Amino acid sequence: MKEKICVLGLGYIGLPTAAMFASNGYDIVGVDVNKKVVDALNKGEIIIEEPYLDVMVRDVVKSGKLKAYVKPQVSDVYIIAVPTPINEDKTADMSFVIDATRSIVPIVKKGDIVILESTSPPKTIDDIIVPILKESKLNVEEDLYIAHSPERVIPGKILFELVENNRIVGGINEESSEKVKRLYQAFVKGDIYTTNATTAEMCKLTENTFRDVNIALANELAKICEEMGINVWDVIKFSNKHPRVNLHQPGPGVGGHCIAVDPWFIVEKFPQIANLINLSRNINDSMPEYVFNKSRKILGTLKDKKITILGVTYKPDVDDMRESPIIELVELFEEISGITISIYDPFVENYKYLEKDVYSACKDSDLLILGVNHKLFKEIDMNKVNDYMRCSNILDTRNFFENDQLSNLGFNYNLLGKGK
Ligand SMILES: NC(=O)c1ccc[n+]([C@@H]2O[C@H](COP(=O)([O-])OP(=O)(O)OC[C@H]3O[C@@H](n4cnc5c(N)ncnc54)[C@H](O)[C@@H]3O)[C@@H](O)[C@H]2O)c1
Repeated sequence: MKEKICVLGLGYIGLPTAAMFASNGYDIVGVDVNKKVVDALNKGEIIIEEPYLDVMVRDVVKSGKLKAYVKPQVSDVYIIAVPTPINEDKTADMSFVIDATRSIVPIVKKGDIVILESTSPPKTIDDIIVPILKESKLNVEEDLYIAHSPERVIPGKILFELVENNRIVGGINEESSEKVKRLYQAFVKGDIYTTNATTAEMCKLTENTFRDVNIALANELAKICEEMGINVWDVIKFSNKHPRVNLHQPGPGVGGHCIAVDPWFIVEKFPQIANLINLSRNINDSMPEYVFNKSRKILGTLKDKKITILGVTYKPDVDDMRESPIIELVELFEEISGITISIYDPFVENYKYLEKDVYSACKDSDLLILGVNHKLFKEIDMNKVNDYMRCSNILDTRNFFENDQLSNLGFNYNLLGKGK
């Protein structure tokens, strides 16, 4: 007999997880505090964008395997996949996790499984989940199986990666880890490694911190190479020919809801020790201002100039703007009197200064900044851009354009991380 599973939080993580279990024959109670999500789901519709998810959800709702509610229903397994955003002071906002855990206290019973999927600071299972579940009067450590099983999927490939990725399951004891591992084996083809809860929490944070620190190194090298009059992109390319070196790429900053956020969850808990992690976050956060200052150097003054920015999302070929460093760059330019800003990003529909086509965005512009390397930008006719601009200055923050080609067209081409 398959367990009945209640998934709390039906966003980018919870909904695909719920649909995946449902399409593998489990009865799923989907819970979201957002009534819009619940109403849409019960009609077989979704309000988030993810390839193939609409079809999968439509099928499992139609077959009655997935039903949505605004409140949790009695089940055998509870999977918590609610947001863990960051507060202004760079600490984790755990209110959604706390609310979701509290909401199952009245219905949780002996023998149930509780899984936290939300990315969380270390010790969340021990210090938040277990104490709240104790309000149920159960003998939690003996009566319940509790584990953290962090998610590693990438939006755009979620349904593929849910199945193929390796997973970590960290339980409050070995039985919890084993029970939860067996559950995910319903659809996970990757390896599932078991450990304790705090190690699993730390693994998820470490994965994104590794990438953040590596990018910070690339950004610092970019600044150093500019001072030396050499090209950091060459330094990185040739260094990576070493069989044991894998430097990441510099850029205008780090965005998104994972790499730019998760390292703070470690810093929050260990501010005296997490020096490198803290510094790396600050180096990456300094990049929008660095690009802003470089723009000023190129133009002499920013007053009364027109700046055109290509791309405002946090990474290429998606519409996701969460924590995008380009937003901060725009805000820095907005402080300059008389400045005009225009933006072209074919993936984004709602943002200020957006122009429908790249050529109107470039009209009478003094500086074109390549902020995001959307593949589509390769199709731009740079000759035409040159005709539209008032002054043909380019600042490429992603090593996207061909220097020689643009110089031949008469552009003053500037590359982040390359000194003159
Ligand atoms: N999106 C990703 O690519 C990704 C990848 C790895 C890990 N994560 C982590 O997974 C977690 C969830 O992220 P997401 O992207 O799915 O978030 P999301 O914002 O897309 O969805 C979360 C949903 O939870 C609902 N919710 C909030 N409080 C609730 C409650 N008390 N009960 C029931 N539902 C509630 C919200 O209404 C929302 O629909 C976060 O911790 C995130 O860091 C996300």
